[in-house]
Amino acid sequence: MRVGVMASGRGSNFQALIDAAERGEIPDADLAHLIVNKKDAYAIKRAKKHRINYTVITSHDRTRGEFDQSVLKLLKELNIEIVVLAGFMRILTPEFIDTYRNRILNIHPSLLPSFPGANAHRDAIKYGVKVSGCTAHLVDEGIDSGPIIMQTSVTLSDGETEESLADKILKYEHQILPKALQLLCSGKIVINGRHIKIKSD
Ligand code: GRF
Repeated sequence: MRVGVMASGRGSNFQALIDAAERGEIPDADLAHLIVNKKDAYAIKRAKKHRINYTVITSHDRTRGEFDQSVLKLLKELNIEIVVLAGFMRILTPEFIDTYRNRILNIHPSLLPSFPGANAHRDAIKYGVKVSGCTAHLVDEGIDSGPIIMQTSVTLSDGETEESLADKILKYEHQILPKALQLLCSGKIVINGRHIKIKSD
């Protein structure tokens, strides 16, 4: 499957995909292209280093609709079949989601449906949860609300900070995102409403 990765910044999840691909762990995924919406995104450096083609489509100077149309046009030209949101910090339009229905994968740093949105670590700490984690899920029209493919939990320590929790969770994001991508690309995911089952070999 030809995969387009979308990122906004650091791109450590993108790097985790690259590393997994280089180790042969996502044989059904071809990391064909990176799209970033910020011209200084560090993810670009990772793409360059690993000779992955990339495109910058800035989002600050166009409407949400214009941005999504530009991305969709590019994805079509490149025959991209699966989209991964790897730290892509923007909401996509319903049209975008409908075009790639059940073919957009996102990684989120909480155990959804708890703490959706941009401040998951802060919200989890503020709430006082003892366990949080990360979720790889398909994207629907809501915010971090699509069907769940995979989750991993972590235990919060006394005195956990936003930064320490983010570090703790990130390690597991890097593990489950490539696994979820491989499942999606290999056609092993069976979707029934909100429920996802994984076909066994
Ligand atoms: C990750 O924690 C991801 O779950 C969230 O944003 C962060 C992006 O990190 N959506 P990176 O750019 O992949 O390093």
